[in-house]
Amino acid sequence: MTDSLMRRKVIVPESREGQGLVRSLSWPHLIALGVGAIVGTGILTLIGVGADKAGPAVILSFLIAGLICACAALAYAEMATMIPASGSAYTYSYVVIGEIIAWVVGWSLILEYSLVVSAVAVGWSGYAAPLLEAWAGVPMALMQGPELGGIVNLPAIGIIGVVAAMLLYGTRESATVNAVLVIVKILALIVFVAVALPAFNAANMEPFSPYGFAKHMGPDGVERGVMAAAAIIFFAFYGFDAIATAAEETKNPDRDLKIGIIGSMVACVAIYIAVAVAAVGAIAYTRFANSPEPLALILRELGQPLVAQYLGVSAVIALPTVILAFFYGQSRIFYTMARDGMLPESLARLSSRGTPVRITLFTAAIVAVLAGFIPLGELAALANAGTLAAFSAVALCMLIMRRRAPDAPRTFRAPLPNLVGGIAILGCLYLFFSLPSQTQFWFLMWNIAGLAIYFLYARKRAVAGEV
Ligand code: ALA
Repeated sequence: MTDSLMRRKVIVPESREGQGLVRSLSWPHLIALGVGAIVGTGILTLIGVGADKAGPAVILSFLIAGLICACAALAYAEMATMIPASGSAYTYSYVVIGEIIAWVVGWSLILEYSLVVSAVAVGWSGYAAPLLEAWAGVPMALMQGPELGGIVNLPAIGIIGVVAAMLLYGTRESATVNAVLVIVKILALIVFVAVALPAFNAANMEPFSPYGFAKHMGPDGVERGVMAAAAIIFFAFYGFDAIATAAEETKNPDRDLKIGIIGSMVACVAIYIAVAVAAVGAIAYTRFANSPEPLALILRELGQPLVAQYLGVSAVIALPTVILAFFYGQSRIFYTMARDGMLPESLARLSSRGTPVRITLFTAAIVAVLAGFIPLGELAALANAGTLAAFSAVALCMLIMRRRAPDAPRTFRAPLPNLVGGIAILGCLYLFFSLPSQTQFWFLMWNIAGLAIYFLYARKRAVAGEV
C-alpha cells in the first residue's frame, strides 16, 4: 500500500506537538481571521459583476452561493475539529481519501489562495485609485490593468508587498491588526445599508431576472444567468477555510475552530443579503454593473459623495485583511505540503519568528505580477474553481468518515450530514459548471500541470506519514 496513489495519512492525535508552528491563536482571533477573510472584494466589487450577469436576481445568486457555502462550512467545521492539523482540505483528503486526491486538492488550494490574493489586491485598487488620483495626482493608466485601458495596476502590486511584509513580521501581530480592521469594514457596510436601503425603489427590481436562471451565452459573448452570477458571487463567501489552515497555531483547536468557522459564516451571510438588497433596490443595476467600485458609485448616485468617500477609505484601510488571511493560508498550505515531501522543503523553512519566509516571498512575486495585469473577474473565477474543488472534497471526506468511523470522536457534528454533504458536493459541481467556460479550461490546464509535477516529483518524495 505504501506506493499506492491512494495511500493515506494516519491520524495520531498527540503527534502534532512541537513541529515548529507556535500555538498563539484563540477563537476571537479566528473569528476575526474568518470575517477578515470573508468580507472583501466579493461584496464590495464583484456584486457589480454579478448584477451584470443576473440583473436584480443577483440577490438570488447571493442566496444560492451562500447556502452552498454554508453547507460546505458545516462539513469543514466537522473535519477541522476531527483533524485539527495544518493544511485544511488537503490534509483531510490525505487522511480520508488518498494521496493523489490530496495532491489535486492541495494544488487547487494553492491556486485558490494565490488568486484570491491577486483578485482582492485588484479590488482594493478599484477603491484606492480614485482617492490616489484625487489626492496625489497618480495617473489612472498606472492604476488599472490593460483590460480597462491602463498599463499596469501598480497599487495592486504595492498592497501585496505591504501585506507580505506584515506576514514576515509575525502571525500574532498581524492577527491583532486584522481584528481592528475587521470592525472598520463591517461598520462601512452597515453605513452603506443604512444610506441605500431608504432609497429602495421597487421599479429597480423590474425585470427581476432578465437573463434567466441557468448559465447561457448571450449575444455579446458574455455568459449570463442567475447561476453564472452565483458562480462568481461565490467568491464573496469563502474565507472561513483560512481559519482551518491555522489549526496548528490554535491554542484549543476543538472549541476554537468550531466557533470561528460557523460564527464568521453566519455573520457574513446576514450582512451580504442586506447589502445586496440595498444595492439593487437603490439604483438601476445597469448603472453599477462592472464598476471597479460599485458601492461607492451607488452612494454618489444617491447624492452622498462624503459617505461614498468614507466607504472608499474604509475599503482601502480594511481590504488588506482579506489579502492577509489568504496569503497566510497559502503559505501554510505550501508549508504543509512541503513538510509531507510533496513540494521542495527548502521553500518551507521557518524563520526564527516561525514564519515561512521563502514561500511568502515566492508567492508575493507571482501574485503581484498577476494582480498587475489580469482582470479581476478572471482572477476571481479561477480562484473559485480551485475553491469549489476543495469544498466538494471536504464534504466528501465528511460523508466517507461518517460511514467509515461513525463513532469516532467529533467535537462538532454537522446536522443532517447526508443533506448538508449532498448540497455541498452537488452545489459545488453546479457552480463549477456555471463558471465561464474559459475558466474551466484554465483550471483543467492547472491540474494537468499539477499532475505532471506529482508523477515526476512529488510521488517519489511524498511521505504519507502521520498527522
Ligand atoms: N470572500 C473574500 C472576498 O470577498 C475572498 O474578498
